[in-house]
Amino acid sequence: MFQFIVSKSKSIIVNRVLINGAKNASTSPQKAEPEKKVPKFKKFKIYRYNPESTERGKKPYMQEYTVDVSNCGPMVLHALEKIKMEQDSSLTFRRSCREGICGSCGMNINGVNKLACLEKISTSTKTKIYPLPHMYVVKDLVVDFTRFLEQHKRIKPYLIRKDDKFDEGEEYYLQSIKDRDKLDGYVECILCACCSTSCPEYWWHGHAKAPNDFLGPSALLNAYRWIIDSRDQNTKSRLDELKNYYSVYRCHQINNCTSCCPKNLKPGLAISKLRLLLAGCSKKGKPEMEGVIKSDPTKGANHPC
Ligand code: SF4
Ligand code: SF4
Ligand code: FES
Repeated sequence: MFQFIVSKSKSIIVNRVLINGAKNASTSPQKAEPEKKVPKFKKFKIYRYNPESTERGKKPYMQEYTVDVSNCGPMVLHALEKIKMEQDSSLTFRRSCREGICGSCGMNINGVNKLACLEKISTSTKTKIYPLPHMYVVKDLVVDFTRFLEQHKRIKPYLIRKDDKFDEGEEYYLQSIKDRDKLDGYVECILCACCSTSCPEYWWHGHAKAPNDFLGPSALLNAYRWIIDSRDQNTKSRLDELKNYYSVYRCHQINNCTSCCPKNLKPGLAISKLRLLLAGCSKKGKPEMEGVIKSDPTKGANHPC
C-alpha cells in the first residue's frame, strides 16, 4: 500500500513535470537578456587643492566630473569612490566606515555640511562638493582637524573621579538606568565636525589662541555630556573652566549646528543647558546609584549592574 502511494505520487509528480515542461516548451521565449540599465549622467563639481602641486599656481579650483549614476551606489560617497576608481585617482577625501559611524567623511555638499556616506545623490543635474568650511585644507576635501581635536581634548572627555583607587578593568561604576538615559542624545556624537564648521561664531572665534577661543558646538555638546554623567565627580572644575568670555558665551543660539548634525543631535540645546548650569539656574542633581561592582568575566554582557 505504501509502495503504491509512493509510486502513485511519483507518477503524479512526473506527470506534473511533463505537463509543466510541455507548457514551458510551448510558451517560454528564448533565454531572457539581462535588463540593460539606461545610463543617467550627473555632474559633480568638486573642490580641488594640492599644496604640493605646481600646476595652476597651487591655487584651489573646481573640477567637474560626469558620473553615470545608474551604475553607482545611491550615496554621494559612492559617486566619489567611483570617480576615484574610474576617472581620477588623485581625488582625495576621507572615509572609513561608510555608514555614519566614524565621522570621517564630513564635507560641504550643495552648501550644507553632511556625511557623504549618509547623503543620497540628489536628482538635480549637478552637485557641488567643498571641504568643511573655515578649516585649513590639507588636500582636496581633507581638512586639518588638529585644532578641533585639541578643543575636544580640553573639555577632558573622560570620567574624572575623586576616589581614583579602583582596579582598572576589574570594576564598574554603578549608574541607574534613569541617569544613563540623561546621556541619550549626547553620547552618540561621532566628532564629524559638521556642526562646528557650520557655526559662524566658530568661524570667527574658533581658531583664536586658547583660552580666547570659542570651543564650538561639538566640544560643548561633549563637555555637557561629561558634566551631567552621574559617575563623573569633576563638575565644579569642568564648569569653572568654561566660565569665561569666549568658551561658551560666543554662541548666539542660531542653531546652524543643530540643523546640520547628521546624527540628529542637538548641540544648540546642549549649549543652552550648559549655560543654565553655568549661571546656577539648574543643578546636576545627585546620582541615583553610587559605588562600584566587581566585574565578572564569566558573566560577560549579562552582568547585573
Ligand atoms: S547655536 Fe551657537 S554653536 Fe550652534 S551654530 Fe549657532 S552660534 Fe554656533
Ligand atoms: S554633534 Fe553632530 S555634527 Fe557635531 S560633531 Fe557630533 S555628530 Fe558631528
Ligand atoms: S565614512 Fe564613516 S561616517 Fe562616513
